[in-house]
Amino acid sequence: MIKIKLRTFFLISMVCGIALLFLSVPNLQAAKKEITEVPAIEGAEYVGSETCSACHEEQTKEFKLSTHERIAIPAGDATVEGCEMCHGPGSLHVEAGGGRGKHIVNPKKNPEACFACHTDKKIEFQLPYHHPVLEGKMSCSDCHNAHAPEVRPWTATSLKDVNEACFKCHKEQGGPFVWEHEALREGCTTCHKVHGSITDKMLIARDSNLCLRCHVQATFPIIGRVSHATSRIPVGTCFSAACHTAVHGSNFDEHLRY
Ligand code: HEC
Ligand code: HEC
Ligand code: HEC
Ligand code: HEC
Ligand code: HEC
Ligand code: HEC
Ligand code: HEC
Repeated sequence: MIKIKLRTFFLISMVCGIALLFLSVPNLQAAKKEITEVPAIEGAEYVGSETCSACHEEQTKEFKLSTHERIAIPAGDATVEGCEMCHGPGSLHVEAGGGRGKHIVNPKKNPEACFACHTDKKIEFQLPYHHPVLEGKMSCSDCHNAHAPEVRPWTATSLKDVNEACFKCHKEQGGPFVWEHEALREGCTTCHKVHGSITDKMLIARDSNLCLRCHVQATFPIIGRVSHATSRIPVGTCFSAACHTAVHGSNFDEHLRY
Protein backbone atom coordinates (compact mmCIF):
# COMPACT_ATOMS: atom_id res chain seq x y z
CA MET A 1 0.00 0.00 0.00
CA ILE A 2 2.62 2.47 1.14
CA LYS A 3 4.96 1.46 -1.68
CA ILE A 4 2.40 2.22 -4.34
CA LYS A 5 1.59 5.50 -2.72
CA LEU A 6 5.24 6.48 -2.55
CA ARG A 7 5.83 5.56 -6.16
CA THR A 8 2.78 7.48 -7.31
CA PHE A 9 3.92 10.37 -5.20
CA PHE A 10 7.37 10.42 -6.82
CA LEU A 11 5.87 10.11 -10.27
CA ILE A 12 3.53 13.00 -9.65
CA SER A 13 6.26 15.16 -8.18
CA MET A 14 8.54 14.41 -11.14
CA VAL A 15 5.89 15.36 -13.66
CA CYS A 16 5.03 18.47 -11.67
CA GLY A 17 8.72 19.33 -11.34
CA ILE A 18 9.32 19.16 -15.06
CA ALA A 19 6.16 21.07 -15.82
CA LEU A 20 7.14 23.74 -13.30
CA LEU A 21 10.60 24.04 -14.81
CA PHE A 22 9.10 24.77 -18.21
CA LEU A 23 6.59 27.15 -16.79
CA SER A 24 9.01 29.05 -14.58
CA VAL A 25 11.91 29.60 -16.97
CA PRO A 26 10.25 32.35 -19.01
CA ASN A 27 8.77 33.83 -15.84
CA LEU A 28 12.15 33.96 -14.16
CA GLN A 29 13.62 35.72 -17.15
CA ALA A 30 10.83 38.25 -17.14
CA ALA A 31 11.33 38.86 -13.43
CA LYS A 32 15.08 39.25 -13.82
CA LYS A 33 14.70 41.70 -16.64
CA GLU A 34 12.29 43.78 -14.66
CA ILE A 35 14.51 44.13 -11.62
CA THR A 36 17.71 44.95 -13.45
CA GLU A 37 16.25 48.05 -15.08
CA VAL A 38 17.39 51.18 -13.29
CA PRO A 39 14.66 53.65 -12.43
CA ALA A 40 15.83 56.03 -15.13
CA ILE A 41 13.25 57.26 -17.60
CA GLU A 42 14.48 57.69 -21.11
CA GLY A 43 14.24 61.25 -22.41
CA ALA A 44 12.94 62.63 -19.12
CA GLU A 45 14.46 65.37 -16.99
CA TYR A 46 14.20 66.30 -13.34
CA VAL A 47 11.54 68.90 -12.63
CA GLY A 48 11.59 69.09 -8.81
CA SER A 49 9.06 68.16 -6.15
CA GLU A 50 7.30 71.51 -6.39
CA THR A 51 5.88 70.44 -9.76
CA CYS A 52 4.52 67.19 -8.36
CA SER A 53 2.78 68.93 -5.50
CA ALA A 54 0.30 70.53 -7.88
CA CYS A 55 -1.37 67.18 -8.50
CA HIS A 56 -0.24 64.97 -5.60
CA GLU A 57 -1.18 66.95 -2.55
CA GLU A 58 -1.52 63.98 -0.21
CA GLN A 59 1.95 62.52 -0.83
CA THR A 60 3.51 65.99 -0.76
CA LYS A 61 2.05 66.71 2.64
CA GLU A 62 3.02 63.35 4.10
CA PHE A 63 6.52 63.54 2.70
CA LYS A 64 7.45 66.78 4.47
CA LEU A 65 8.58 64.99 7.64
CA SER A 66 10.05 61.89 6.03
CA THR A 67 13.67 60.73 6.44
CA HIS A 68 14.08 60.83 2.68
CA GLU A 69 12.99 64.43 2.47
CA ARG A 70 16.35 65.44 3.91
CA ILE A 71 18.42 63.62 1.27
CA ALA A 72 20.02 65.14 -1.82
CA ILE A 73 22.34 63.19 -4.09
CA PRO A 74 24.34 64.76 -6.94
CA ALA A 75 23.86 62.96 -10.28
CA GLY A 76 25.76 64.59 -13.13
CA ASP A 77 24.48 68.13 -13.57
CA ALA A 78 21.33 67.50 -11.58
CA THR A 79 20.67 66.80 -7.92
CA VAL A 80 18.43 63.87 -7.21
CA GLU A 81 16.13 64.75 -4.36
CA GLY A 82 12.54 64.74 -3.25
CA CYS A 83 9.92 62.77 -5.11
CA GLU A 84 12.11 62.04 -8.08
CA MET A 85 14.78 60.11 -6.21
CA CYS A 86 12.37 57.21 -6.06
CA HIS A 87 10.06 57.95 -8.95
CA GLY A 88 12.66 58.98 -11.52
CA PRO A 89 12.83 62.19 -13.54
CA GLY A 90 9.27 63.42 -14.02
CA SER A 91 9.19 65.80 -17.01
CA LEU A 92 7.49 63.37 -19.42
CA HIS A 93 4.94 62.33 -16.79
CA VAL A 94 4.08 65.98 -16.17
CA GLU A 95 3.88 66.83 -19.87
CA ALA A 96 1.50 63.89 -20.34
CA GLY A 97 -0.72 65.35 -17.63
CA GLY A 98 0.13 62.47 -15.29
CA GLY A 99 -1.58 59.12 -15.11
CA ARG A 100 -0.91 55.49 -14.21
CA GLY A 101 1.96 53.86 -16.07
CA LYS A 102 2.73 57.23 -17.66
CA HIS A 103 6.51 57.76 -17.72
CA ILE A 104 6.99 57.43 -13.99
CA VAL A 105 8.46 54.73 -11.77
CA ASN A 106 6.27 53.15 -9.13
CA PRO A 107 8.58 51.39 -6.61
CA LYS A 108 5.66 49.27 -5.53
CA LYS A 109 6.13 47.41 -8.77
CA ASN A 110 9.91 47.77 -8.93
CA PRO A 111 12.14 47.61 -5.83
CA GLU A 112 15.11 48.61 -7.99
CA ALA A 113 14.19 52.21 -7.19
CA CYS A 114 15.08 51.53 -3.56
CA PHE A 115 18.13 49.39 -4.31
CA ALA A 116 19.72 52.29 -6.18
CA CYS A 117 20.66 53.63 -2.72
CA HIS A 118 20.08 50.65 -0.43
CA THR A 119 22.35 48.25 -2.29
CA ASP A 120 22.90 46.12 0.81
CA LYS A 121 19.19 45.38 0.97
CA LYS A 122 19.25 43.71 -2.42
CA ILE A 123 21.81 41.27 -1.07
CA GLU A 124 19.65 40.55 1.97
CA PHE A 125 16.70 39.65 -0.25
CA GLN A 126 18.90 37.19 -2.13
CA LEU A 127 19.70 35.16 0.98
CA PRO A 128 18.29 31.61 0.94
CA TYR A 129 15.26 32.49 3.13
CA HIS A 130 13.64 35.82 2.35
CA HIS A 131 10.41 37.66 1.80
CA PRO A 132 9.51 37.31 -1.90
CA VAL A 133 10.16 40.92 -2.92
CA LEU A 134 12.52 40.16 -5.82
CA GLU A 135 10.00 37.57 -7.01
CA GLY A 136 7.47 40.38 -7.36
CA LYS A 137 5.03 38.84 -4.85
CA MET A 138 5.32 41.73 -2.41
CA SER A 139 7.06 45.06 -2.21
CA CYS A 140 9.07 47.19 0.18
CA SER A 141 5.95 49.26 0.70
CA ASP A 142 4.12 46.32 2.27
CA CYS A 143 6.22 47.02 5.36
CA HIS A 144 7.61 50.50 4.78
CA ASN A 145 5.70 53.67 4.14
CA ALA A 146 8.01 55.62 1.88
CA HIS A 147 6.14 58.92 2.18
CA ALA A 148 5.33 58.98 5.86
CA PRO A 149 7.52 60.35 8.65
CA GLU A 150 8.19 56.80 9.82
CA VAL A 151 9.65 54.91 6.87
CA ARG A 152 10.43 52.20 9.34
CA PRO A 153 7.48 50.00 10.19
CA TRP A 154 7.97 50.87 13.86
CA THR A 155 8.46 54.00 15.91
CA ALA A 156 10.97 54.89 18.57
CA THR A 157 8.25 54.76 21.18
CA SER A 158 6.37 51.66 20.13
CA LEU A 159 7.96 48.40 19.09
CA LYS A 160 4.47 47.01 18.76
CA ASP A 161 4.10 48.83 15.46
CA VAL A 162 6.48 46.47 13.75
CA ASN A 163 4.28 43.57 14.80
CA GLU A 164 1.23 45.33 13.39
CA ALA A 165 3.01 45.56 10.05
CA CYS A 166 3.49 41.79 10.15
CA PHE A 167 -0.02 40.88 11.31
CA LYS A 168 -1.43 42.22 8.04
CA CYS A 169 -0.26 38.97 6.51
CA HIS A 170 0.66 36.74 9.47
CA LYS A 171 -2.46 36.86 11.66
CA GLU A 172 -1.79 33.52 13.33
CA GLN A 173 1.28 34.76 15.20
CA GLY A 174 -0.70 37.64 16.63
CA GLY A 175 -2.91 35.48 18.79
CA PRO A 176 -4.68 36.29 21.03
CA PHE A 177 -3.16 33.47 23.06
CA VAL A 178 -4.06 32.28 26.54
CA TRP A 179 -0.33 32.12 27.18
CA GLU A 180 1.41 34.68 25.07
CA HIS A 181 5.18 34.60 24.75
CA GLU A 182 6.40 37.84 26.26
CA ALA A 183 9.30 37.89 23.79
CA LEU A 184 6.84 39.13 21.15
CA ARG A 185 6.55 42.41 22.98
CA GLU A 186 10.11 43.13 21.90
CA GLY A 187 8.99 42.84 18.31
CA CYS A 188 9.11 40.07 15.74
CA THR A 189 12.59 41.20 14.77
CA THR A 190 14.08 39.92 18.03
CA CYS A 191 14.00 36.50 16.40
CA HIS A 192 13.46 37.11 12.68
CA LYS A 193 15.62 38.86 10.11
CA VAL A 194 12.76 39.85 7.90
CA HIS A 195 14.51 40.96 4.72
CA GLY A 196 16.32 37.67 4.49
CA SER A 197 18.43 35.22 6.40
CA ILE A 198 20.61 32.20 5.89
CA THR A 199 18.44 30.20 8.27
CA ASP A 200 15.03 28.67 7.66
CA LYS A 201 11.99 30.78 8.70
CA MET A 202 14.26 33.80 8.48
CA LEU A 203 15.44 33.16 12.01
CA ILE A 204 18.41 34.99 13.49
CA ALA A 205 19.71 31.61 14.63
CA ARG A 206 18.22 28.15 14.21
CA ASP A 207 19.50 26.65 17.42
CA SER A 208 18.88 27.11 21.12
CA ASN A 209 21.01 30.26 21.17
CA LEU A 210 18.00 32.03 19.68
CA CYS A 211 16.21 31.47 22.98
CA LEU A 212 19.09 31.41 25.43
CA ARG A 213 19.81 35.06 24.67
CA CYS A 214 16.95 35.76 27.08
CA HIS A 215 16.51 32.51 28.96
CA VAL A 216 19.97 31.72 30.19
CA GLN A 217 20.02 32.13 33.96
CA ALA A 218 22.71 31.91 36.63
CA THR A 219 21.46 28.44 37.48
CA PHE A 220 21.89 27.17 33.92
CA PRO A 221 21.25 24.39 32.81
CA ILE A 222 18.27 24.95 35.05
CA ILE A 223 15.84 27.02 33.01
CA GLY A 224 12.62 27.98 34.70
CA ARG A 225 12.69 25.51 37.56
CA VAL A 226 13.71 22.47 35.55
CA SER A 227 17.15 21.16 34.67
CA HIS A 228 17.56 21.05 30.89
CA ALA A 229 20.94 19.30 31.08
CA THR A 230 20.47 15.73 29.91
CA SER A 231 17.10 14.99 28.34
CA ARG A 232 16.52 18.44 26.84
CA ILE A 233 19.18 20.77 25.46
CA PRO A 234 21.39 17.97 24.07
CA VAL A 235 18.38 16.48 22.29
CA GLY A 236 17.46 19.38 20.00
CA THR A 237 16.62 23.04 19.84
CA CYS A 238 14.28 24.61 22.37
CA PHE A 239 11.57 24.68 19.73
CA SER A 240 11.99 21.10 18.46
CA ALA A 241 9.03 18.74 18.36
CA ALA A 242 7.73 17.91 21.84
CA CYS A 243 9.44 20.98 23.31
CA HIS A 244 8.34 24.63 23.09
CA THR A 245 6.94 24.41 19.57
CA ALA A 246 4.35 27.12 20.14
CA VAL A 247 7.04 29.83 20.20
CA HIS A 248 4.64 32.70 19.55
CA GLY A 249 2.08 31.71 22.15
CA SER A 250 -0.10 28.81 23.18
CA ASN A 251 -3.71 28.15 24.04
CA PHE A 252 -2.94 24.74 25.47
CA ASP A 253 0.10 24.92 27.67
CA GLU A 254 1.79 27.62 29.72
CA HIS A 255 5.18 26.29 28.62
CA LEU A 256 4.38 27.19 25.02
CA ARG A 257 3.47 23.82 23.59
CA TYR A 258 0.68 22.60 21.34
C1 HEC B 1 -0.67 67.39 -14.05
C2 HEC B 1 -0.84 66.62 -12.85
C3 HEC B 1 0.31 65.74 -12.40
C4 HEC B 1 1.58 66.12 -12.12
C5 HEC B 1 2.21 67.52 -12.24
C6 HEC B 1 2.26 64.95 -11.63
N1 HEC B 1 1.42 63.88 -11.65
FE1 HEC B 1 1.81 62.00 -11.03
N2 HEC B 1 -0.04 61.38 -11.63
C7 HEC B 1 -1.04 62.24 -12.02
C8 HEC B 1 -2.26 61.46 -12.20
C9 HEC B 1 -3.62 62.01 -12.64
C10 HEC B 1 -1.95 60.13 -11.88
C11 HEC B 1 -2.88 58.93 -11.86
C12 HEC B 1 -3.38 58.79 -10.46
C13 HEC B 1 -4.50 57.83 -10.29
O1 HEC B 1 -4.96 57.22 -11.24
O2 HEC B 1 -4.92 57.69 -9.14
C14 HEC B 1 -0.54 60.13 -11.52
C15 HEC B 1 0.15 58.99 -11.11
C16 HEC B 1 1.41 59.00 -10.53
C17 HEC B 1 2.08 57.87 -9.97
C18 HEC B 1 1.58 56.44 -10.00
C19 HEC B 1 2.03 55.79 -11.29
C20 HEC B 1 1.68 54.35 -11.44
O3 HEC B 1 2.02 53.80 -12.51
O4 HEC B 1 1.09 53.73 -10.54
C21 HEC B 1 3.28 58.31 -9.49
C22 HEC B 1 4.34 57.47 -8.82
C23 HEC B 1 3.34 59.73 -9.72
N3 HEC B 1 2.20 60.12 -10.36
C24 HEC B 1 4.39 60.52 -9.35
C25 HEC B 1 4.54 61.86 -9.72
C26 HEC B 1 5.73 62.63 -9.47
C27 HEC B 1 6.97 62.12 -8.76
C28 HEC B 1 5.50 63.86 -10.00
C29 HEC B 1 6.49 65.02 -10.05
C30 HEC B 1 7.72 64.77 -10.78
C31 HEC B 1 4.17 63.86 -10.57
N4 HEC B 1 3.62 62.61 -10.39
C32 HEC B 1 3.58 64.93 -11.20
C33 HEC B 1 -0.95 63.58 -12.26
C34 HEC B 1 0.20 64.32 -12.11
C1 HEC C 1 11.68 56.92 -0.65
C2 HEC C 1 11.06 56.73 -1.92
C3 HEC C 1 9.90 57.62 -2.31
C4 HEC C 1 9.89 58.99 -2.35
C5 HEC C 1 11.02 59.93 -2.02
C6 HEC C 1 8.57 59.37 -2.82
N1 HEC C 1 7.81 58.25 -3.06
FE1 HEC C 1 5.98 58.19 -3.89
N2 HEC C 1 5.94 56.16 -3.76
C7 HEC C 1 6.94 55.41 -3.20
C8 HEC C 1 6.49 54.04 -3.08
C9 HEC C 1 7.27 52.88 -2.48
C10 HEC C 1 5.20 54.00 -3.63
C11 HEC C 1 4.26 52.78 -3.74
C12 HEC C 1 3.58 52.51 -2.44
C13 HEC C 1 2.44 53.39 -2.14
O1 HEC C 1 1.56 53.53 -2.99
O2 HEC C 1 2.41 53.94 -1.03
C14 HEC C 1 4.88 55.35 -4.05
C15 HEC C 1 3.68 55.72 -4.66
C16 HEC C 1 3.40 57.02 -5.08
C17 HEC C 1 2.21 57.41 -5.81
C18 HEC C 1 1.11 56.48 -6.29
C19 HEC C 1 0.10 56.29 -5.22
C20 HEC C 1 -1.00 55.36 -5.64
O3 HEC C 1 -2.14 55.67 -5.37
O4 HEC C 1 -0.70 54.32 -6.23
C21 HEC C 1 2.27 58.77 -5.99
C22 HEC C 1 1.24 59.62 -6.69
C23 HEC C 1 3.49 59.22 -5.37
N3 HEC C 1 4.15 58.12 -4.83
C24 HEC C 1 3.91 60.54 -5.32
C25 HEC C 1 5.02 60.99 -4.66
C26 HEC C 1 5.34 62.39 -4.48
C27 HEC C 1 4.51 63.53 -4.99
C28 HEC C 1 6.53 62.44 -3.79
C29 HEC C 1 7.27 63.67 -3.30
C30 HEC C 1 6.53 64.58 -2.46
C31 HEC C 1 6.96 61.07 -3.57
N4 HEC C 1 6.00 60.22 -4.08
C32 HEC C 1 8.14 60.68 -2.96
C33 HEC C 1 8.19 55.84 -2.84
C34 HEC C 1 8.59 57.16 -2.75
C1 HEC D 1 18.36 58.51 -3.34
C2 HEC D 1 18.71 57.50 -2.38
C3 HEC D 1 17.62 56.72 -1.69
C4 HEC D 1 16.54 56.07 -2.27
C5 HEC D 1 16.17 56.00 -3.74
C6 HEC D 1 15.83 55.40 -1.20
N1 HEC D 1 16.47 55.66 0.00
FE1 HEC D 1 15.88 54.98 1.84
N2 HEC D 1 17.32 56.09 2.72
C7 HEC D 1 18.32 56.80 2.05
C8 HEC D 1 19.18 57.43 3.03
C9 HEC D 1 20.42 58.27 2.70
C10 HEC D 1 18.65 57.12 4.30
C11 HEC D 1 19.11 57.62 5.68
C12 HEC D 1 20.40 57.04 6.09
C13 HEC D 1 20.26 55.65 6.54
O1 HEC D 1 19.68 55.45 7.63
O2 HEC D 1 20.70 54.75 5.82
C14 HEC D 1 17.51 56.24 4.07
C15 HEC D 1 16.75 55.65 5.08
C16 HEC D 1 15.80 54.67 4.87
C17 HEC D 1 15.14 53.90 5.92
C18 HEC D 1 15.38 54.03 7.41
C19 HEC D 1 14.59 55.19 7.92
C20 HEC D 1 14.75 55.43 9.37
O3 HEC D 1 13.90 56.15 9.89
O4 HEC D 1 15.68 54.92 9.99
C21 HEC D 1 14.26 53.06 5.30
C22 HEC D 1 13.34 52.06 5.97
C23 HEC D 1 14.36 53.29 3.87
N3 HEC D 1 15.30 54.26 3.65
C24 HEC D 1 13.61 52.62 2.92
C25 HEC D 1 13.60 52.95 1.56
C26 HEC D 1 12.69 52.37 0.59
C27 HEC D 1 11.63 51.34 0.90
C28 HEC D 1 12.99 52.94 -0.62
C29 HEC D 1 12.28 52.73 -1.94
C30 HEC D 1 10.85 52.96 -1.96
C31 HEC D 1 14.10 53.86 -0.40
N4 HEC D 1 14.43 53.84 0.93
C32 HEC D 1 14.70 54.62 -1.38
C33 HEC D 1 18.45 56.90 0.69
C34 HEC D 1 17.55 56.44 -0.25
C1 HEC E 1 8.44 41.94 5.60
C2 HEC E 1 8.54 43.34 5.89
C3 HEC E 1 9.63 44.13 5.19
C4 HEC E 1 9.86 44.24 3.84
C5 HEC E 1 9.10 43.57 2.70
C6 HEC E 1 10.94 45.17 3.68
N1 HEC E 1 11.37 45.59 4.92
FE1 HEC E 1 12.91 46.86 5.31
N2 HEC E 1 12.68 46.60 7.31
C7 HEC E 1 11.69 45.83 7.89
C8 HEC E 1 11.89 45.81 9.34
C9 HEC E 1 11.02 45.08 10.35
C10 HEC E 1 13.03 46.59 9.59
C11 HEC E 1 13.69 46.82 10.95
C12 HEC E 1 14.86 45.88 11.04
C13 HEC E 1 15.26 45.51 12.40
O1 HEC E 1 14.90 46.18 13.36
O2 HEC E 1 15.98 44.48 12.51
C14 HEC E 1 13.48 47.12 8.30
C15 HEC E 1 14.56 47.98 8.13
C16 HEC E 1 14.92 48.57 6.92
C17 HEC E 1 15.91 49.62 6.75
C18 HEC E 1 16.64 50.38 7.84
C19 HEC E 1 17.47 49.58 8.74
C20 HEC E 1 18.56 48.86 8.04
O3 HEC E 1 18.57 47.62 8.08
O4 HEC E 1 19.42 49.52 7.42
C21 HEC E 1 16.00 49.87 5.41
C22 HEC E 1 16.91 50.88 4.72
C23 HEC E 1 15.06 49.00 4.73
N3 HEC E 1 14.42 48.22 5.69
C24 HEC E 1 14.85 48.96 3.36
C25 HEC E 1 14.00 48.07 2.71
C26 HEC E 1 13.88 47.96 1.27
C27 HEC E 1 14.67 48.78 0.27
C28 HEC E 1 12.94 47.01 1.02
C29 HEC E 1 12.46 46.49 -0.31
C30 HEC E 1 13.47 46.03 -1.25
C31 HEC E 1 12.45 46.53 2.30
N4 HEC E 1 13.12 47.18 3.30
C32 HEC E 1 11.46 45.57 2.47
C33 HEC E 1 10.68 45.16 7.24
C34 HEC E 1 10.59 44.98 5.87
C1 HEC F 1 2.32 41.72 2.53
C2 HEC F 1 2.34 40.48 3.26
C3 HEC F 1 3.45 40.23 4.28
C4 HEC F 1 3.86 41.04 5.32
C5 HEC F 1 3.39 42.44 5.66
C6 HEC F 1 4.84 40.27 6.05
N1 HEC F 1 5.00 39.03 5.47
FE1 HEC F 1 6.15 37.50 6.19
N2 HEC F 1 5.71 36.41 4.52
C7 HEC F 1 4.91 36.83 3.49
C8 HEC F 1 5.03 35.89 2.39
C9 HEC F 1 4.30 35.97 1.06
C10 HEC F 1 5.94 34.89 2.82
C11 HEC F 1 6.44 33.70 2.04
C12 HEC F 1 5.57 32.55 2.29
C13 HEC F 1 6.07 31.36 1.54
O1 HEC F 1 7.13 31.41 0.91
O2 HEC F 1 5.37 30.36 1.63
C14 HEC F 1 6.34 35.25 4.18
C15 HEC F 1 7.17 34.47 4.97
C16 HEC F 1 7.52 34.79 6.28
C17 HEC F 1 8.24 33.92 7.19
C18 HEC F 1 8.73 32.53 6.87
C19 HEC F 1 7.58 31.59 6.94
C20 HEC F 1 7.89 30.21 6.50
O3 HEC F 1 7.00 29.36 6.70
O4 HEC F 1 8.97 29.94 5.96
C21 HEC F 1 8.40 34.60 8.37
C22 HEC F 1 9.09 34.11 9.61
C23 HEC F 1 7.79 35.89 8.18
N3 HEC F 1 7.25 35.96 6.92
C24 HEC F 1 7.77 36.88 9.14
C25 HEC F 1 7.29 38.18 8.92
C26 HEC F 1 7.48 39.28 9.84
C27 HEC F 1 8.21 39.19 11.16
C28 HEC F 1 6.86 40.37 9.28
C29 HEC F 1 6.80 41.78 9.80
C30 HEC F 1 8.06 42.49 9.93
C31 HEC F 1 6.27 39.93 8.02
N4 HEC F 1 6.57 38.61 7.83
C32 HEC F 1 5.50 40.74 7.18
C33 HEC F 1 4.10 37.94 3.48
C34 HEC F 1 4.19 38.99 4.37
C1 HEC G 1 11.12 34.28 20.52
C2 HEC G 1 11.47 34.27 19.15
C3 HEC G 1 10.40 34.62 18.13
C4 HEC G 1 9.69 35.79 18.04
C5 HEC G 1 9.76 37.00 18.94
C6 HEC G 1 8.86 35.67 16.87
N1 HEC G 1 9.07 34.46 16.27
FE1 HEC G 1 8.22 33.77 14.56
N2 HEC G 1 9.19 31.99 14.76
C7 HEC G 1 10.11 31.70 15.76
C8 HEC G 1 10.62 30.37 15.56
C9 HEC G 1 11.65 29.65 16.42
C10 HEC G 1 9.97 29.86 14.40
C11 HEC G 1 10.21 28.53 13.71
C12 HEC G 1 9.44 27.42 14.27
C13 HEC G 1 9.84 26.14 13.58
O1 HEC G 1 10.57 26.16 12.60
O2 HEC G 1 9.37 25.13 14.06
C14 HEC G 1 9.08 30.92 13.93
C15 HEC G 1 8.25 30.80 12.82
C16 HEC G 1 7.49 31.83 12.29
C17 HEC G 1 6.67 31.73 11.10
C18 HEC G 1 6.49 30.51 10.23
C19 HEC G 1 5.22 29.78 10.58
C20 HEC G 1 5.26 29.18 11.95
O3 HEC G 1 4.49 29.62 12.83
O4 HEC G 1 6.09 28.29 12.20
C21 HEC G 1 6.08 32.95 10.92
C22 HEC G 1 5.13 33.35 9.81
C23 HEC G 1 6.51 33.80 12.02
N3 HEC G 1 7.37 33.09 12.83
C24 HEC G 1 6.10 35.10 12.20
C25 HEC G 1 6.38 35.86 13.34
C26 HEC G 1 5.79 37.15 13.61
C27 HEC G 1 4.80 37.85 12.72
C28 HEC G 1 6.31 37.57 14.80
C29 HEC G 1 5.97 38.85 15.57
C30 HEC G 1 4.59 38.98 15.94
C31 HEC G 1 7.22 36.56 15.26
N4 HEC G 1 7.23 35.53 14.35
C32 HEC G 1 7.97 36.63 16.43
C33 HEC G 1 10.51 32.53 16.77
C34 HEC G 1 10.00 33.79 17.02
C1 HEC H 1 13.54 38.79 23.91
C2 HEC H 1 13.71 37.83 24.97
C3 HEC H 1 13.20 36.41 24.75
C4 HEC H 1 13.57 35.53 23.77
C5 HEC H 1 14.55 35.74 22.62
C6 HEC H 1 12.87 34.31 24.06
N1 HEC H 1 12.09 34.46 25.16
FE1 HEC H 1 10.89 33.03 26.00
N2 HEC H 1 10.20 34.38 27.37
C7 HEC H 1 10.67 35.67 27.50
C8 HEC H 1 9.98 36.30 28.64
C9 HEC H 1 10.22 37.70 29.11
C10 HEC H 1 9.11 35.32 29.17
C11 HEC H 1 8.17 35.48 30.36
C12 HEC H 1 8.93 35.41 31.65
C13 HEC H 1 9.40 34.04 31.93
O1 HEC H 1 8.57 33.17 32.12
O2 HEC H 1 10.64 33.83 31.97
C14 HEC H 1 9.28 34.12 28.36
C15 HEC H 1 8.60 32.95 28.58
C16 HEC H 1 8.86 31.75 27.91
C17 HEC H 1 8.23 30.48 28.23
C18 HEC H 1 7.18 30.23 29.28
C19 HEC H 1 7.83 30.08 30.61
C20 HEC H 1 7.58 28.74 31.22
O3 HEC H 1 7.50 28.68 32.47
O4 HEC H 1 7.55 27.71 30.54
C21 HEC H 1 8.77 29.56 27.36
C22 HEC H 1 8.45 28.09 27.29
C23 HEC H 1 9.70 30.26 26.50
N3 HEC H 1 9.74 31.60 26.87
C24 HEC H 1 10.40 29.68 25.47
C25 HEC H 1 11.22 30.37 24.59
C26 HEC H 1 11.79 29.78 23.40
C27 HEC H 1 11.58 28.34 22.96
C28 HEC H 1 12.51 30.74 22.78
C29 HEC H 1 13.28 30.64 21.50
C30 HEC H 1 12.51 30.27 20.32
C31 HEC H 1 12.40 31.95 23.59
N4 HEC H 1 11.59 31.67 24.66
C32 HEC H 1 13.01 33.15 23.29
C33 HEC H 1 11.62 36.29 26.72
C34 HEC H 1 12.26 35.74 25.62
